[in-house]
Amino acid sequence: MPATVVVGTQWGDEGKGKLTDLLARDMDLVIRYQGGHNAGHRIVVDGEAFALQLVPSGVLYDHITPIIGNGVVVDPAVLLHELETLQAKGVDVSRLVVSGNAHLIMPYHQELDRLTERFLGKNALGTTKRGIGPAYADKSSRVGLRVQDLTDPKIFREKLDVVLKEKNLILTKIYNRPAMDAKDIAEKYLDELAPRIAPMIGDTVTVVHDALAKGQRLLLEGAQATFLDLDHGTYPFVTSSNPVAGGACTGSGLGPRDLTAIMGIAKAYVTRVGAGPFPTELDGDLGELLVTRGHEFGTNTGRRRRVGWFDAVMARQAARLNSLTEVALTKLDVLDTLDEIKVCVGYTAGGVRYDYPPYHQSVLHDVEPVYEVMPGWGADLTSFTKFEQLPQAAKNYVAFLEQVMGVAISVVGVGPGREQFVRPS
Ligand code: GDP
Ligand code: IMO
Ligand code: MG
Repeated sequence: MPATVVVGTQWGDEGKGKLTDLLARDMDLVIRYQGGHNAGHRIVVDGEAFALQLVPSGVLYDHITPIIGNGVVVDPAVLLHELETLQAKGVDVSRLVVSGNAHLIMPYHQELDRLTERFLGKNALGTTKRGIGPAYADKSSRVGLRVQDLTDPKIFREKLDVVLKEKNLILTKIYNRPAMDAKDIAEKYLDELAPRIAPMIGDTVTVVHDALAKGQRLLLEGAQATFLDLDHGTYPFVTSSNPVAGGACTGSGLGPRDLTAIMGIAKAYVTRVGAGPFPTELDGDLGELLVTRGHEFGTNTGRRRRVGWFDAVMARQAARLNSLTEVALTKLDVLDTLDEIKVCVGYTAGGVRYDYPPYHQSVLHDVEPVYEVMPGWGADLTSFTKFEQLPQAAKNYVAFLEQVMGVAISVVGVGPGREQFVRPS
C-alpha cells in the first residue's frame, strides 16, 4: 500500500491526528496536503498530549519524514512556534520538508479574515480567523506569495509591494483600518523568519515520487473534512481548500493512480464548529452530555463544538466522494453511558426521501432526519484491546454503521490514547 489517505468524513475533528499517528508506525513519509493552522490534530502518547496544527502528525516517530505539501497555506511564524514547542517536548523535527510551492499566510490575510467575519455579522461563517480563506483567495487570484519567495528577497519585496497596495486600499477605504507597512512585513518575513525556514524548503513533489520509486509507504493526512470541502461541503460554511481525497493529489503532486487506500475517519456521532446546517444536531441535556464526555472543545481554538447523532447520509456521500476503502470509527467510548443511540439513515424534505444529501442548500437546511434507534451498551469501553471483548450492543452498533454507510470499519477508537483502539476482524 504505497500511498494511503486519511480523510475526515464529517465536519472535522474526527480524530485524524490520532489515526495518522497510529498508521504512521508502518509508514515512511506523512504528508499534509491542504489547509493550514486552522487544523488542530490532537494525539495522546503515554498520557502526554500533542496538538498539531501545521506539522504532520507522523512527526512523533523518528522514522517518519514529515512533509508540508504544496496545497497547504503556511504561516511561517506559527510553523516555527509549533516546531519549537515540539522540540521542547523532545520531538526531533529536523526531517521536516516544506514545499516551496506552498503559499504563505501574510499578516493582511489574518486581518482580512477577522474583518470579513465582522462585516458579515449574523451571516459570519465562524472561521478560525487564521487567514486561511484570504490566503487561498490570493492563491486563486494569482497574487499570493509562496514559501520559495522567502529565499528571493527581491521577488518577495516586488510581489509584496504590488499586493499590499490593493490590500491597503481595502483596509483603509472599506474597513477604516490602518494601512500595513511593506517594509515592516518584509523585515519580519525576510530577516526574522526566512533564515529559519529556508533549510526546510524543498521540492516535495520530487521527494514524494522518489519515495514511491523506492517502495516507501506514504501517508497523506487530510485536515478539515469532506463537508468542509470548498466544492463538496455545505458551502459557504466550508473552508477554502479541498480536504477530499482528490485534494491529496493536487496538494502533494501525487497522481490519482498513486493512491492505494483511502481511510475515512468518522466519529461515532457528529460534531461541527462554526456556522452552517447540521441536520442531526442535538441540544439540551443530551447534547451537553456528549460535549462533556467527548471533550468537544476545539483543539487549538477552544471553541465549543456542536454535536449530533451519526449521519449515514453524510457518510454515504463521503464514501463516494473520497472512494473510501475503509473507515476508522472514533470515540465509540463517548457513547458508553447512553441507553439508546440514534442513527440518521435518511432525510426527508417536502415529501421526498433522500439517501444522499440534497445538492440544494435550501433543501438541506429544511431536511428532517429519519432515525433508527439502537440500544446502548452501558459499559466502559476504554480499556478494551480486542474487538471481541466489546459488549454485543457495541458490536451491533458498529455493524449497523457499516451496513448503512456501505463501507467496512477497520479500526474503532475507544479512547484518546495511542493504544486505545480495537480492530474488527
Ligand atoms: P482531528 O482534527 O480530526 O485530528 O481531531 P481532533 O484532534 O481535533 O479532535 C479529536 C479529539 O478526540 C482529540 O481530543 C482526540 O484526542 C480525541 N480522540 C480521538 N480518538 C478518540 C477516541 O476513540 N475516543 C476518545 N474518547 N477520544 C478520542
Ligand atoms: P481539523 O483538521 C473543525 C471550520 C471553521 C469554520 C470553517 C471555515 O482539526 O479537523 P476556516 O478558518 O478554515 O476558513 O474556517 O471551517 N474548520 C474546522 N472545523 N476542524 C477543523 O480542522 C477545521 N478547520 C476549519 O470552524 O466553520
Ligand atoms: Mg481538529
